[in-house]
Amino acid sequence: MSFPTNRMRRLRRTETLRRMARETRLSRDDLILPLFVVEGSGVREPVASMPGVLRFSVDQVVDEAKRVFDLGVPAVIFFGIPENKDAQGSGADAADGIVQRAVSAVKQAVPDLCLITDVCLCEYTDHGHCGLIDGEEVQNDPSLVRLSESALSHARAGADIVAPSDMMDGRVAAIRNRLDAHGFEEIPILSYAAKFASAFYGPFRDAAESTPQFGDRRSYQMDPPNRREALREMRLDLEEGADALMVKPALPYLDILADARREFEVPLAAYHVSGEYAMIKAAAERDWIDGDRAMEEALVSIKRAGADWILTYAAADLAAHLNG
Ligand code: PBG
Repeated sequence: MSFPTNRMRRLRRTETLRRMARETRLSRDDLILPLFVVEGSGVREPVASMPGVLRFSVDQVVDEAKRVFDLGVPAVIFFGIPENKDAQGSGADAADGIVQRAVSAVKQAVPDLCLITDVCLCEYTDHGHCGLIDGEEVQNDPSLVRLSESALSHARAGADIVAPSDMMDGRVAAIRNRLDAHGFEEIPILSYAAKFASAFYGPFRDAAESTPQFGDRRSYQMDPPNRREALREMRLDLEEGADALMVKPALPYLDILADARREFEVPLAAYHVSGEYAMIKAAAERDWIDGDRAMEEALVSIKRAGADWILTYAAADLAAHLNG
């Protein structure tokens, strides 16, 4: 039946009606806040390309973790920036590495906060690639050993979930086997399953000092135009034992997220990445858009498309706003 029997505007007439007709709501429970940890103490340094985002030393990240948990954010994901980098990424699995120390300090101070660790080599290798290299080639199978050692060291430090973001083939199975062999069969794997070779990671690479020193990541991260391949990546990771899947970046890949929602029953995460965040902040600084509204609109779209968990640099601000 059509107009004038049907009038779509009837249920939009007042804020109360709009509230009642609303189909999707952001909740604090959806949010995961990324945290960058650096060496030193008393450090809280702003990331120039990500307004509102800081890099914390271990002592300061403990305070930040308390603050965000008190705001109602259930989980954080750690990225470590070590002082020294080498070809093997030795810092990635050092028992006293930067992420390992951050995780154990925060676990002790805020035991109920869910601590996720990003498992990758790019922040720890001097060449900046996510795996080991031979000449200019990123080596798949040798990298699996280093990645699973890194995941194991995170679990030993007290991580509640490990999240491999390197995009090597077979890393979920390698990590699962290594964790199980050491008594960590209860630690879930959140796989960055459909991670695209994106221009939107630019600000993160400044923050994490993880820009590749030669070449790019296109031989391991996905080609942006590919949709069917993303389903294949996700299905393979589930077969290898992933407990939850991630799509990354978020807004340019909402079709992938919607496909995944139809196809899979596991929790789905979406990463609203550094460049997506920075674009909104930059436009808002110029008064070209209302930054808070734009951020909320972006994040609710991600939930509407099917995400259960949203990784966002705006998690603390949004939780504060949702608390009124
Ligand atoms: C790599 C990693 C990256 C991000 C999360 N994990 C960067 C990359 O692949 O170059 C990007 C996150 C963001 O842009 O916010 N280990």
